[in-house]
Amino acid sequence: MDLPARWTPLRPHRTQRAFWTSTARFNTVPAGRRSGKTEFAKRKLVKAALRGTRFAEARFFAAAPTRDQAKRIFWDDLKALSPNGLTLGRPGESELVIRYVNGSELWVIGMDRPERIEGQPWDGGVLDEYANMRKEAWPKHVRPALSDRNGWCDLYGLRNE
Ligand SMILES: Nc1ncnc2c1ncn2[C@@H]1O[C@H](COP(=O)(O)OP(=O)(O)OP(=O)(O)O)[C@@H](O)[C@H]1O
Ligand SMILES: [Mg+2]
Repeated sequence: MDLPARWTPLRPHRTQRAFWTSTARFNTVPAGRRSGKTEFAKRKLVKAALRGTRFAEARFFAAAPTRDQAKRIFWDDLKALSPNGLTLGRPGESELVIRYVNGSELWVIGMDRPERIEGQPWDGGVLDEYANMRKEAWPKHVRPALSDRNGWCDLYGLRNE
């Protein structure tokens, strides 16, 4: 498969490499500013969507505290990282979803509207800038939505509690 040019090679430092090879279902990543958290999250999501899961419509999310923020952080890069021939139609600019030929969906979601997460089964996702989300976002809205499919989640950012 030819990857788009956006897949520039990264030279992971030691901590990044340790995390990249983590197979834990949930990871919290309280790493410093500009340490490559979000770049890794984007690549992990696109890889997961391309690989798919045992569910015909594997569903993944890229979440940030607000929809504007989530769009600004993720949308262009997730599109650029997704190989053209493997996406289905045009990415939905209003819904902020990329659909793939294998049936996977990758949604960009703002946690100012957590109902977008609730009530739907998810195979995996990331919460970026998690420290700026409401405290109940993870336990109340996200975690239960991961139960059906044993979905994974990475939480980026330091929560002081
Ligand atoms: N291992 C790496 N090799 C080369 N470039 C990298 C690597 N990791 C990150 N970068 C680049 O460094 C910049 C910062 O990365 P990124 O935005 O992912 O960091 P972050 O930890 O999410 O930062 P912030 O705390 O500001 O959200 C990006 O331009 C990214 O492409
Ligand atoms: Mg970031």
